[in-house]
Order: sequence, then structure tokens, then C-alpha cells
Amino acid sequence: MLELNDIEMAEFQAIIYRISGMRINETKKILLSSRLLRRLRATGIATYGEYLKLVQSIAGKAELDAMMDAVTTNETFFFRHDNHFAWMEAYLKDLSSQAMKGLRPKKLHIWSAACSTGEEPYSIAMMLLDNKLILNGWELKILATDICSTVLETARKGRYQGRTLEQIPLKKLKRYFKDSAETGFLEVKPELMEMVEFRKHNLMQQMIPLRRFDLVFLRNVLIYFDKESKTKALDRISESMASEGYLVLGVAEDTLGCCKSLKKIQSWLYQKEAG
Ligand SMILES: C[S@@+](CC[C@H](N)C(=O)[O-])C[C@H]1O[C@@H](n2cnc3c(N)ncnc32)[C@H](O)[C@@H]1O
Repeated sequence: MLELNDIEMAEFQAIIYRISGMRINETKKILLSSRLLRRLRATGIATYGEYLKLVQSIAGKAELDAMMDAVTTNETFFFRHDNHFAWMEAYLKDLSSQAMKGLRPKKLHIWSAACSTGEEPYSIAMMLLDNKLILNGWELKILATDICSTVLETARKGRYQGRTLEQIPLKKLKRYFKDSAETGFLEVKPELMEMVEFRKHNLMQQMIPLRRFDLVFLRNVLIYFDKESKTKALDRISESMASEGYLVLGVAEDTLGCCKSLKKIQSWLYQKEAG
């Protein structure tokens, strides 16, 4: 297989880092070579050197986006890390009881940042529907974003098959999915789809307009960032969070103290300071 040489590797690493904050280290050279090779084939370009020139040129802007799509790791599945959803169940019950006592408005804005193909925001939407918040007059919004356009296309279609569906409890599967026109696929029902707005967004940039989210899921993406990118992403996310809002990270992730306004509640759960 065609493989990147050290100079080309360094150039691609620098471009990917500059755009997305992701650090691709040397051990990923074969993986990166093969992901880029797909783009070489798609564009009919023979060498990594020529491809590099294209993505560095003004005319190569669209191909640069396609390259970023090809180099991201988009692994995800429904109800990933079930302890996070168990926590969310308790969180929703707590919010409902506070609202009933008039201690908070019936409003909940959630952001699934780095949502990949949509399994995470749709899992969140199922939790909200199961808790009957809409029926009880809550204003609910789920924004789901990713840097990668192709995963967002899949997410908007809401069509899934195979292993990604395995952790969905049978009751939810029956209630929120239907057979798709495409053989072998299940499709999320409109009531679920309508709850999620998908949008392209790069975590290295500030969300415009600035919103105030009560709950942010930022799972399994910080692992690709170095300390500088983490700081950048977490500072921006924290600015988009409501006072005392919660941030959920992946199980193997940590803010490493990069953002002073986020207080650790448990290894994967943080809370924005009041005020
Ligand atoms: C492994 S997936 C995680 C999906 C989901 N959050 C989960 O935990 O199952 C990581 C996602 O992060 C996205 N990503 C990487 N860098 C990003 C950036 N700078 N801004 C937004 N999304 C990014 C990738 O495109 C990919 O879809």
C-alpha cells in the first residue's frame, strides 16, 4: 500500500491539527495513509504530494472538507456508556420535581457536541420523550453538531442497521423506530427526528449565536485533542453553558483542569460554576 513519507505525514498532521485541534500521532501513520488513499482514489490523484498541493490551494477548499471527513474517527452507538443515561434519568426526574415546585422554568436546552452519525442525540431524545417532558409543557431543544458533513447527512436520515442498535432497550426500539424503505435498516420515527437539530460546527470555533445549554454531551472527542485544543474547546463550550449546567465527557476523558469554570462532580461529569 502507498504510505506517507515523514515530510508528508508532518504536513498532513499540521493541517488536521490547525483545522480541528486533533493530534494524529506517528503511530497512526498507516491508518492516516489508508484514509487519505481513499481521497486520492476519489480525486484520481496519484501521489500524497500532489494531493497535499491540492488541499493547500484555494481551489482545493471543497476537497479539504472531504479530507477532514475522511480522517475523523466516527465510532458511536445508541446508549453508549449506560451509566451516563442512568445519571440523565435521575437528572430529568430532579429537574421535573424542581419545576413542579416552581424552582426552575420548564426549559431544557441540550447540546450533543461531536454527535457523529446521530446515535447520541437520538438516545437523548428518547430519554426526554420517555420522561413525558413535552406532554408536561416543557420547552425542549437538542442541538447536535459535528465537524464532519458526511456523518451529519447520515444523522439527518436517521437510518441505522447492525451493531449500533444493539444497546437500545426493546421497548424503546418498538416505540421509536420503524422499518425503513431500505432493506435491513431501521429508521427513527418523525417524533424523534423532529426533536433534534443537526448542524455543522467545529469545536475550535465559538458557537454563533451564543446559546446557554443546560446540558452538554462532549463524549469521546477530547481524546483526540492535546492540552491546547482541549483548553480551546472547553473554554468555548463553557461559555455556551448555562450557570450550573452539566457537561458529560466520555469515560476515559478528563478536562485536566483546562477550564477553571468547570467543577468536577465525578470522573466524567462536570458542572459549570454558578453566576
Ligand atoms: C468517536 S466520535 C464520538 C461520537 C459520540 N459523541 C459518542 O461518544 O459516541 C468523535 C466525533 O468527533 C468529531 N470531531 C473531531 N474533531 C472535531 C472538532 N474539532 N469539532 C467538532 N467535531 C469534531 C468527529 O467528526 C467524530 O464524529
